[in-house]
Amino acid sequence: MITEASYVSSPARYSSQETMYNRCGNSGVLLPKVSLGFWHNFGSDAPFERSRAITHYAFDHGITHFDFANNYGVPAGSAETNFGRLMDEDFRPYRDELFISTKAGYLMWDGPYGEWGSRKYLMSSLDQSLRRMRLDYVDLFYSHRYDPLTPIEETLQALVDIVRAGKALYVGISNWPLEPLEKATQYLRERDVPLLIYQGRLNMLDREPIEEGILDFCNKEGIGFIAYSPLAQGLLTDRYLHGIPTDSRMAQEHFLKSSRLTPEMTDYLSKLAAHSLENGRTMAQEALAWVLGQQGVTSALVGASSVAQLANNLETLKHM
Ligand SMILES: NC(=O)c1ccc[n+]([C@@H]2O[C@H](COP(=O)([O-])OP(=O)(O)OC[C@H]3O[C@@H](n4cnc5c(N)ncnc54)[C@H](OP(=O)(O)O)[C@@H]3O)[C@@H](O)[C@H]2O)c1
Repeated sequence: MITEASYVSSPARYSSQETMYNRCGNSGVLLPKVSLGFWHNFGSDAPFERSRAITHYAFDHGITHFDFANNYGVPAGSAETNFGRLMDEDFRPYRDELFISTKAGYLMWDGPYGEWGSRKYLMSSLDQSLRRMRLDYVDLFYSHRYDPLTPIEETLQALVDIVRAGKALYVGISNWPLEPLEKATQYLRERDVPLLIYQGRLNMLDREPIEEGILDFCNKEGIGFIAYSPLAQGLLTDRYLHGIPTDSRMAQEHFLKSSRLTPEMTDYLSKLAAHSLENGRTMAQEALAWVLGQQGVTSALVGASSVAQLANNLETLKHM
């Protein structure tokens, strides 16, 4: 039986190294083609031992990249706090094998300094994240959203100074429109802190990064691209083929609303299920293969509420 102090990662975790990793843009960093996100299912509202089992499974199978934000978990911050416990109890010996990201941009605390893109907010938020996760530094720190009211130079210089202070090794941008992204790319490059990666929502149903030219821009500029919600929060899986399971994200009616499950959507999902079957894949695998097949995508950033889901998602790499 695995006890808290006895986690030893699988010696076989890098056995499929050749097929598991993509280079992140033109950087020196390799990221797993499937990365694990801690937005849902890792906060204090989720069973801790289940979260631990999913995290172990991920790392034991070569998933070296874990993605956080200051506000992940219910309550906000608890995904990072729980991971801090996992760091101490399980992952400390493996710190240098992990690529850990966090972000700041959305509402995290009360008052005028608890969200958006000021230097004050970004610096304070990262310090809080480091304390929660019990880390000296993160590998990657993101601006989580574009702040149109803060001078772009203030936000970007804060990112530069965070790297100079040794609190993050690389910086990333998430959810920014193309025009400020172009400015950010230039600003950061001129200060020798090149933009490592862009994080945007990309899946078969949500294609804005392609339509808005963001993926193409990243590709041309040697910036990595990590696709979040590649399964459209679970919609592009067999989860909703026969209604709404009580333990599903949609049943919570918060980030994934049941209004999304229109008769047209149900019809689309049934056809996708049949098509996936013909390809010898589950729907989730079909959806992930689509994301990973887009030119310039470095990694698909999945969520999971069970080890079985994550195992199923990782199988995608065997069928590509
Ligand atoms: N930058 C941003 O603004 C932003 C925004 C959103 C997300 N993200 C990042 O992206 C990560 C992933 O987002 P996401 O959770 O929306 O991703 P997702 O992979 O599209 O959805 C994950 C959900 O799909 C279901 N699922 C996953 N694999 C399955 C399988 N094989 N079979 C059946 N169902 C399956 C589970 O739903 P159930 O829980 O219902 O079982 C799971 O919680 C987040 O954790 C976060 O790190 C970033």
